[in-house]
Amino acid sequence: MVEDCPHAMSASNIILVGFMGTGKSAVGKRLAEKLHRPFVDMDALIESRVGKSITRIFEEDGEPHFRSLETSIIKEISQQQEQVIAAGGGVVLNPENIRDFDRSGLVVCLSASPDEILRRVMGSSHRPLLEQKDRSTRIRSLLKKRQSFYDAIPCQVDTTDLAMDQVVSRILILFEQFVSSCISHAD
Ligand code: S3P
Repeated sequence: MVEDCPHAMSASNIILVGFMGTGKSAVGKRLAEKLHRPFVDMDALIESRVGKSITRIFEEDGEPHFRSLETSIIKEISQQQEQVIAAGGGVVLNPENIRDFDRSGLVVCLSASPDEILRRVMGSSHRPLLEQKDRSTRIRSLLKKRQSFYDAIPCQVDTTDLAMDQVVSRILILFEQFVSSCISHAD
């Protein structure tokens, strides 16, 4: 059990990455409740720091500026422990982000099929990269460009056919394995 592990290891962050609509925020929130940890939603944190929505940041300051905000927020939150973090879908594009996250805990990549992603983001209007007429084509082309970055994360959970609690359970198992592998490496 996670609770039985030495504090230094079990205090590691759990960081959820993955494409938009793969469930990072909903799952992260539930996981944080279960572990009695603070939940950090990166997009919400950026919005509250900058004082405007992600959509406005993209419109007024451009995507490169948003990406640099992400990188500096990651540096900051990676300094703290015992958090569950839901990262933005594009953080994998910068290897520096993943290096910082890797040093602070377990990075888990959530995935889902393009059709399931489309179904989940259907009613949303807060994702500037998906504000296009043909969302299905947009999702597929973005996924194609990013697939190798997501695939490079060793811990993966395909959420397509899973209920939220099943995803949470899989992540807890991965975290237990992560904590015990840290212990055996420390021996
Ligand atoms: C983005 C994903 C969004 C948000 C921004 C860019 C991306 O986060 O950070 O719109 O590049 O994939 P979610 O994955 O939480 O929707």
